Amino acid sequence: MDPIVLRGRSLLTWKDYRAEEIRYLLELSKKVKAERQRGERHQRFVGRTLALLFEKRSTRTRCAFETAFGEEGGHPVFLSTQDIQLGAKESVEDTARVLGRMFDAIEFRGFKQETVEILAKYAGVPVYNGLTDTYHPTQVLADIMTLEEDFGDCRGKKLCFVGDGRNNVARSLMIICAKLGVHYTVVCPSELQPDAATVALCKEYARESGASIQVSSERDAVEGAHALYTDVWVSMGEESLREQRIRLLTPYRVDESLMARTGRSDTIFLHCLPAVKGEEVSYEVIEGPTSRVWDEAENRKHTIKAILLATLGEA
Ligand code: CP
Ligand code: NVA
Repeated sequence: MDPIVLRGRSLLTWKDYRAEEIRYLLELSKKVKAERQRGERHQRFVGRTLALLFEKRSTRTRCAFETAFGEEGGHPVFLSTQDIQLGAKESVEDTARVLGRMFDAIEFRGFKQETVEILAKYAGVPVYNGLTDTYHPTQVLADIMTLEEDFGDCRGKKLCFVGDGRNNVARSLMIICAKLGVHYTVVCPSELQPDAATVALCKEYARESGASIQVSSERDAVEGAHALYTDVWVSMGEESLREQRIRLLTPYRVDESLMARTGRSDTIFLHCLPAVKGEEVSYEVIEGPTSRVWDEAENRKHTIKAILLATLGEA
C-alpha cells in the first residue's frame, strides 16, 4: 500500500481521497483533540498564512479554520466577497494565481463547486472546500469522528440521514460513509432523493469497503441506526423553496418517535448546525440526552486542524 502523504493536497470532495487517507485524518483529528484537552500548546503554523474566502455566511467553519490555524501561530485572513474581487471584477483563475503567491493555503465557501475547483487548479497551494452547493467535506469528517466517539470504529455502523437527501451534507456523508464502510441510508421524500450518479458511484465505493448505500422514503428505514442525522430543510441559496420544503419534509422531522423507531436505545442524534429547532428536529431531541451536536461542532475544529497539518506538511 502507498504511504500516506497528504502534503500539498487540496480537499474539494472526499471522492479524491482513499479510505486509508481519510482514516489517517481521523486518527490525526483524535490526536490533536487529545493534545488540546491535555492543555498542550503547539506552534506548527508559525509564519504561515491562510486565506478564508466566504461567499456565504458561516459560524462553525470560519471559526474552526481561524482558531485551528491561529492558535498554532498561523495568520488567517478572512475575505468576504464584499472585500475582494472574486469573479466580479477579476476572474476566479486570476484571483487564485494572486492568492497562491501570497498565502500557504486557501479555504473557500460559496455557491458553485466549479469555483473551488478552479481555485485549486490555479492557486498552486492547497485549497479546502468549506461548503459549496454540492459538497461539505470538512463537515462530514467531524461527523464520522463524533460517531466514533460513541461507537468506536465506524466500519459496520449505520448512519441515517433524514431530510433533504440531495443537499451538500447528505451527498458528502454518502461519499465518506461509502469509502469508510459505514452503512448509509437516506430517508427522504421521492422529490428530494440524492442524484443517481452519486448513488451509483457510492455503491461502487461500497463494494470495496463493505458499506451498504440505501435510499428510502419510508421512516421505518431508520431501523438499526446508530445515528440519525438531519440538516436544515432549506439550504443557503434556496430560500425561495421554503414553502415546498416544509410541505415535503414535515413527515420527516426527527422527533422522539423517529428516534425510537431505530429500535436501539443508544442511537445518537447528529446535525451539522445551524438548526431550526421545531422544524427538521424537535426541541426535545436536539436538547435531549442523545444529542451530540455540540461535540460535533467542536470536532469541526479538530478535524480542520488535522487537514491543515497534513496538507501543509506539519503532521
Ligand atoms: N456546519 C457548518 O458548516 O456551520 P457554519 O455554516 O456555521 O459554518
Ligand atoms: N445544507 C446546509 C448546510 C449548512 C452548514 C446549507 O448548505 O445551508
